[in-house]
Amino acid sequence: MKKGKSSTLLAAMCLFVLSLIISGCGKNTASTEASSNGYPKMTIKFAHVVAEDDPKGQMAEKFKEVVEDKSDGNITVKVYPNGQLYGDDNELQALQSNNVQIIAPQTTKLAGFDESMELFDIPFLFKDEDNLYEFEDSEIGKDLLKKLEGDGIKGLAFWPNGFKHITNSEREIKEPSDLKGLKIRTHGGEILNDSYKQFGAASTKIAFNDVYQALQLGTIDGQENNLTNIKSQSYDEVQGYLSLTNHTRTEYGLVANKGWWDDLNDQTKKLLSDAVDEATKKGRELAKKESEEALKEIEAAGKMKVHKMTEEEHDKFVQILQPVIDKWSKKMDPEIIENILDMQK
Ligand code: LMR
Repeated sequence: MKKGKSSTLLAAMCLFVLSLIISGCGKNTASTEASSNGYPKMTIKFAHVVAEDDPKGQMAEKFKEVVEDKSDGNITVKVYPNGQLYGDDNELQALQSNNVQIIAPQTTKLAGFDESMELFDIPFLFKDEDNLYEFEDSEIGKDLLKKLEGDGIKGLAFWPNGFKHITNSEREIKEPSDLKGLKIRTHGGEILNDSYKQFGAASTKIAFNDVYQALQLGTIDGQENNLTNIKSQSYDEVQGYLSLTNHTRTEYGLVANKGWWDDLNDQTKKLLSDAVDEATKKGRELAKKESEEALKEIEAAGKMKVHKMTEEEHDKFVQILQPVIDKWSKKMDPEIIENILDMQK
């Protein structure tokens, strides 16, 4: 080939590759080009770590359904469950880099940005779902989500799951002293570390999607989680005992990349906020019901011995955890804690 022809061909190929790169780059972010109905053509990536049919998976699907329907298909929401795209170890960084636009980690996983996000781990803080939702809907609850904004994170909502319980492979846990010497996986955080110290147990943080294997290999003796996760992760295949301790909650912080969010037009922000509200409503309707259902299925499978705490046993847990409750209630923003306790009067 003559030199002139080959350089023209080379230039054409370079232009083609460049156009592919530019169009590919635009995929993560909202296009400024609005479609005829005012919504940009865009794809939102939403990553989470649990199963599709868990409450969080179902809320994510509801969000997708509402957004795609109301935007007449201009906006596509691609949901990646089970840590397929990002997991505990890398999802926050991916969010801040806008490689994923929305995630919904358990709130303590956001405590590196603001330690108040860990408050859901204060033992026995919330009496029941009504108390929890009243707090989350209050101005103080909403302000808690706003605390993340300095770190480039837009808090969209709290999403519910359930109260947490302890499973292990060694023995039935009826009272705190039964936990002595056990190594228990948590989702991390100082409050849970303090709690397990009180029990004379060791706690260790392991990414959610690695827990089953750690239990199977015996790297850890047990873990704490809500009933839908215990069920959907098939922990009963590798754990002989479940104790219904109800000691803390699994709540999620539904969060978006703030720069991406801020660039959306008002109409799109409203659509996404409405979809979040619908998904949250669905979550609140199903979370408690799904926990009860999961427990029934675990019991029916009969692989794990389930222990329901008597009042006396429960009181022993409250008693041993009182120093942790007192310490962290003082350490957290006192206004937040007072607000939650006031709602219980
Ligand atoms: C965990 O890490 O134990 C859970 O909070 C995971 C989840 O998102 O439910």
